[in-house]
Formats: sequence, C-alpha cells, structure tokens
Amino acid sequence: MAPKTSPEVGGMGHSIKRKEDPRLIRGKGNFIDDIKLPGMVFMDIVRSPYAHAKIVKIDSAAALKVPGVLGVITGADLAKYNLHWMPTLMSDTQMVLPVEKVMYQAQEVAAVIATDRYTAADGVAAVDVDYDPLPVVVDPFKALEPGAPVLRTDKKDKKDNHIFHWEAGDRAATDKALKDSDVVVTENIYIPRIHVASIETCGCIADFDRARGKLTVYMTTQAPHAIRTVFALVAGHVGLSEERIRIVSPDIGGGFGGKVPVYPGYVIAVAASVLLGKPIKWIEDRMENLQADSFARDYHMKAEIGAKKDGTMTALRIKTIADHGYADAAANPSKFPAGLFSICTGSYDLRKAFVELDGVYTNKPPGGVAYRCSFRVTEAVHAIERITDMLAQELKMDPAELRLKNFIKADQFPYHSALGWEYDSGDYHTALKKAMAKIDYAGLRKEQAEKRKKGELMGIGISSFTEIVGAGPSKHFDILGIKMFDSCEIRIHPTGKAIARFGTKSQGQGHETTYAQIVAEELGIPAKDVEVEEGDTDTAPYGLGTYASRSTPTAGAAGAMAARKIRDKAKKLAAHLLEVSEEDLVWEPGKFSVKGAPQKSKTIQEIAFAAYTNHPQGMEAGLEAVSYYDPPNLTFPFGSYICVVDIDRGTGAVKIRRFVAIDDCGNIINPMIVDGQIHGGLTMGMAPALLEEIAYDDGGNNLSGSFMDYLLPTAMETPSWETDKTVTPSPHHPLGAKGVGESATVGAPPAIVNAVVDALAHLGVRHIDIPITPEKVWRILKEKGVAE
Ligand code: CDP
Repeated sequence: MAPKTSPEVGGMGHSIKRKEDPRLIRGKGNFIDDIKLPGMVFMDIVRSPYAHAKIVKIDSAAALKVPGVLGVITGADLAKYNLHWMPTLMSDTQMVLPVEKVMYQAQEVAAVIATDRYTAADGVAAVDVDYDPLPVVVDPFKALEPGAPVLRTDKKDKKDNHIFHWEAGDRAATDKALKDSDVVVTENIYIPRIHVASIETCGCIADFDRARGKLTVYMTTQAPHAIRTVFALVAGHVGLSEERIRIVSPDIGGGFGGKVPVYPGYVIAVAASVLLGKPIKWIEDRMENLQADSFARDYHMKAEIGAKKDGTMTALRIKTIADHGYADAAANPSKFPAGLFSICTGSYDLRKAFVELDGVYTNKPPGGVAYRCSFRVTEAVHAIERITDMLAQELKMDPAELRLKNFIKADQFPYHSALGWEYDSGDYHTALKKAMAKIDYAGLRKEQAEKRKKGELMGIGISSFTEIVGAGPSKHFDILGIKMFDSCEIRIHPTGKAIARFGTKSQGQGHETTYAQIVAEELGIPAKDVEVEEGDTDTAPYGLGTYASRSTPTAGAAGAMAARKIRDKAKKLAAHLLEVSEEDLVWEPGKFSVKGAPQKSKTIQEIAFAAYTNHPQGMEAGLEAVSYYDPPNLTFPFGSYICVVDIDRGTGAVKIRRFVAIDDCGNIINPMIVDGQIHGGLTMGMAPALLEEIAYDDGGNNLSGSFMDYLLPTAMETPSWETDKTVTPSPHHPLGAKGVGESATVGAPPAIVNAVVDALAHLGVRHIDIPITPEKVWRILKEKGVAE
C-alpha cells in the first residue's frame, strides 16, 4: 500500500530578509544567510515525499525551462565523480543524492541552481520525479524481525537491518547480582526522536575559485577543521585536497550538536560550485530542517536495577535498541558507537553493571546527533534517574533518602565506575542537600500530603545527575581517526595586545568572553585587549570543534597552557631587561619584578615590546605560543535538581511551580555565562520532557515537520528557574574547570518526569514516557477515575 504523503515537503524558500551588513565576509557577527558574494546563485532541493521508494525517473526538462534556472543536479551527475555517496562520521555511508532509491521522507533527490532562491524553488516544483513505493519500516523492533525488508540493499551481503552491537561491563557478575538482589525493578523507558531547533537552520555558501583552485565554504558548522578533513577525504580524488579548502564558520545561530555532521546539502552545494564555477548559497527552510537532518535520541531502553531491602543498590542492567534511521551518521567518537552511554551508573556507587545496545536501520532520516548532550549522556541520565525513582517507589523509600544512601561519597574520588570511567571529582551529598534546603523539601512533602487528602495532584521530582564531558583524552577518543584534543594559538603584539585563536567554535556560548578572560587572567593583561577568533580553518589551529561541553575542558585548557608558555618566555625577556637571572624574578598578574626590589619590574606590555625590539641575541623574536591540549581525563560535572509540579485534573496540564538547580562545574570562569548556559539548558531540558517529539506514522511520514506540530517551549511554559552552585574543582584541568554547556539539558528531563510520576504515584502510576503531554496525563487521570 502506498504510504500517505506530505505535499509540503521541500523547496519552500526563505521569506525573512535580514538587513545587509558590510562586515559580513569577515565571518564575524553574521549568519550564513546574511552573506552575499559577487555572482552568488542559489540552490534549492527536491525532496522525496516517500519514506522508501525506487526512483524510476527524474525529469528535469521543465525545470530547466524556468527562466533563471541554471542547472539541475542529480545523483547520476554526482555518480560520474563518485560523489553520490559519502562517509558518515561513524564510518557508515550515506547518500548525497540517490541513484536508485530513497530511504526516508524528505530525502534529497535532486538540486536546482538558479539566480535567486525563489526561482530555485520554482525549479524544484518543476522537477518531475517518478517513484515506485517500497515497504516502509519505522519501528526498530519490527526492523529486527526475521523477514523484515532489508533496507540497506546498497551493502553487499547485508541480510538484516542490524547495524552494530556494543556492550560494556560484566554481564555474568551483573546477572548474578540482580538474581541475588532482594528487589529488582524493571521498566521500558523510551526517549523519542527529538530535533535541534537552532535560530538558523543548516546552510552554506560554497565558493570555488577556479582561478586559484581554492574552495571556501562558509557554513553552519560546529567543527570546521574536522569538516575540512572530511571534505578532503570525500573530494580529494577530484582535486580538492585539504590545503585548497577553507571552511569559515561565522555566527551560526546555535548548533546544539545538529551542526556537527556533514549533510548532503553541503556536499551538493560544493559540487555545484565546482561544476558551475559560481558561489552557491543553500539554506534549509524550517520544515526541511525539521524533516531531513539534525535528529537526536530515539533510544528504547529496558532498565533493571537491583537493591537490598534497606535500599542499597546492587546492580544495573540496561538493554537498548537504538533507532539510527537509514544510516549510522551519529557524531560519536569512533570507538563509542553508543557514545558515552556507559555513564549510566550515574551518581551511584553501583558496583555491578552491564549495558548492551544494538543499533538498527529504519526508514527515518539519520539520527543520533548529540543534541546538547555529551554523546548519549542524556539517555543514560534519564534511564538511571527514572529507574532510581521507581526503585524508591518499590521500596517505599523517599527518593532523596535513597539517593543520599547510594551516592558515591566525596572521599571515594577519583572513583572507578563499574563501566570503566574514572570520575575526577564530586560531592553529590552536598549538592542534593543544598537543593533540598533551598526548596524546603521537608515542607513540600508535608504540603503534598495535605494536598493529596484534598485530591489535589502535586509532585516533587529529583534528578542527581553525573555528566561526562570534555573528549579527549586522545588515547580513547577520535572522530574518523582524528584524535580528540583541542587547541589555542596566542600572539602578543608589540603593544601588548593579543589575538587568541582556538580550534573550537562558539555558537552562542560566549567563548569570546570566557576565552579572553582565561588568557587575560594567565597573562595579567586586560580581557578587552584580547581578541578571540574561532571558526576559520585558514587561521585557527587545528581542533575538533565545539559540542559535548568540550570547549572549556579542552580548548579552554589549551588557552591557559599557551598563555603559560608565553609567560615562560616573558620571564626570560624580563630577566634580560632587568639584568637579573630568572630565579630572581617573581610573577604577579601583569608583571615580573625582582625579588626583594618590587620597584624593579617589567610589565607584560613592556616585555611584549621588547620581544620585537630588544630581545637578547640567540633568542627568537616575537611572543607567541600554541598549545594542542590533550586532556588526561574527561571532566565529570554534576548537579542535583528538584522540580515541583501541579497537575490540573481537568486538562491533564502539568505546571512547573518551582525548579531548583544546583550545578557543579568545578571552578567557574564566568558566573553569568554559566548561569545563562544553565537557564537555557533547563528550558531545553523541559522541552522534550513536556512538549517535543518527532513522530512518524507507519508510512514513515514525519508528523512533526513544522513548528505547528513540533512544540518549542515559550515563555508561557517556562518557569522562573532558581539556580545555585557548589564548586568541586577538577583535579586535572589546568583551571580546575569542568564543562557545563549541557548539564541542565541532561539533568532537567528526569527531574520533571519524576515530579509528574510522584504526583500520580498514589494512583499506581510508575512511569510515563516523554513527552508528558496534557493528553497523556488526562488519559491516565481518566483511567484512574480522577479526571475532573
Ligand atoms: O563546548 P561548550 O562551549 O558548549 O561548553 P562549555 O565548555 O561547557 O562552556 C560553555 C560556556 O560556559 C563557555 O563560554 C565556557 O567558557 C563557560 N564556562 C565557564 O565559564 N566556567 C566553567 N567551569 C565551564 C564553562
């Protein structure tokens, strides 16, 4: 049976025009869509209405007759150069443009190049494609059944839809510990597919300069250097070697993990620019973005936890089916096909644990981007924090008491987890107790008991999460073989001002501020004198980019290390200028002075000038340094969140009355920026808990392909977040800092779900999958006979 189709897919074109800014091409203060280059033309994409279909014919004749249409590119055109397939970041393969069949609704089928974007959209409408629908598989469990249609027919000898199996921990010991436990709680927990919703969708301007043989791509990427290498690997055989490629990532309007992978649109735009010799602009419209790329989660987890009668946790076992869509294009480190999911023992001293996971192909777009999440940490935290609450319910214990009983104690750090991680530092008891005091936990429990007597539904939910962020170390982490470190290069100019370039790429996290602070603090110069630059592969040192809260743990550390190298050279220069030996000098922020004679000193600015005008013979001129920082370990930020909800018995609507978030990211570089990260992250964590889901029908039609159906949180749903902190420095980071960018997105969902379930627990409710929509709650209330 032919699947239902959605006629709106693809080719909508932009209607918002932004004011032009002459600074655009510098790559600062601009979105991609603001950039204009001389001779630039536009690309729009023909997309498949079917989730699985053979392509019988693509007829471009009518499109080519549209005035202003310059060309139509198909898979057959790319196949001539062997560019119709590309590698994914997980060493799978993904179509750039199809030759034989499409694998998901909204897949790129052909590209139209035209003089303006509206004409390109007209061209898209005029391309005539004949499809022959094929059976669609959207349920990963059905995809694994014997006899299920094999989707990746392009892979020789592939007989099923299984992608990979991955496991960690001690299976036999965990099985035994669960068997020996007094209590075992088991639950199926699903985290649905969700989607990044950055201010700017994905897009690029590919500009191939035929005269110089150089390709410049202005693109929405979080990892410019890695992308340059991927482009060189994909297109090196047609002459685009790496020194001829420059990636510039200007202000990209948010990324959240969705702008790490390479999507077909980027590659087609590059191919089109090379073929036509013109700058090609391609920008997705919002519906294309919601239907074709940047998808996250889609984990079906069966979690089991064992405990003694007194509440001591004994073992954890989680089995997961991971729906990756039609290609494994997740942006995970190579050796971690399930990302850092094995952080799932969380904040608890769980000595026995085993996790296994199977990746599965379905007729959905590729998924698995680490949406504001350090490679599957959100899924791991959701599983452990939900199952912990279920255990408390089973044992009739207060969930705070159960957590306090099982937390890893402060004196157990560095802590070696059963699944192989070495947690650097932590103090979980203090964080939870602080949250409980701030929100008056005891008072809330009394209030809840009173309310229950009156039939009112109020719940209190806790989430005490542990994150794992900052990949490297390079001995464990690489992407496509490129080791995960990060970098900073600092040059001090003769007048004492500095430029610091980093291998990361801010998308709104404020690196310009915090990196300048790091360099300024280390060198004792004003932060305003430090120019921070990221995102241009022709100037920045090689780095792996910004995602998974890795910037502070890696590039931030590189900034400190490069500054320290400069300080070392500055000391030699100061000794020369003051005619003393280095041992006779003391450093205080901004200057070296002679021990015992503080009036004899040289400021860093004086030293910088001397580095170019009066350096000693035999010493190289200049004052600059570069650091490629390979962290010895990851950092493990943590926090305790408590959420209070009230549920309307008439509508099932959940209202977050209070939400207290205590975060610990070690030493803080900029408290306002960290607070901003947490406020935004909490709202982003609330979104999938209550609102967001990318759903598909049986025909593979995306049911949430516009903001009418994919519900983003607004100020109406967002409560006033109450934030506070504890500070437990990382022992191995040069500044004692840990990452923080996604802590709140990771920690918030289970706190909210736990609160909702807590409100309904006396009715026999134990688990609700996210998003907890009013309809879902209302149906439960109706079933329990308490709906008004
Ligand atoms: O990789 P990403 O920038 O998303 O994450 P991050 O390293 O967690 O940093 C997010 C922002 O918070 C950056 O501007 C950091 O410099 C800042 N931050 C901070 O001020 N202090 C910390 N301990 C951690 C992050």
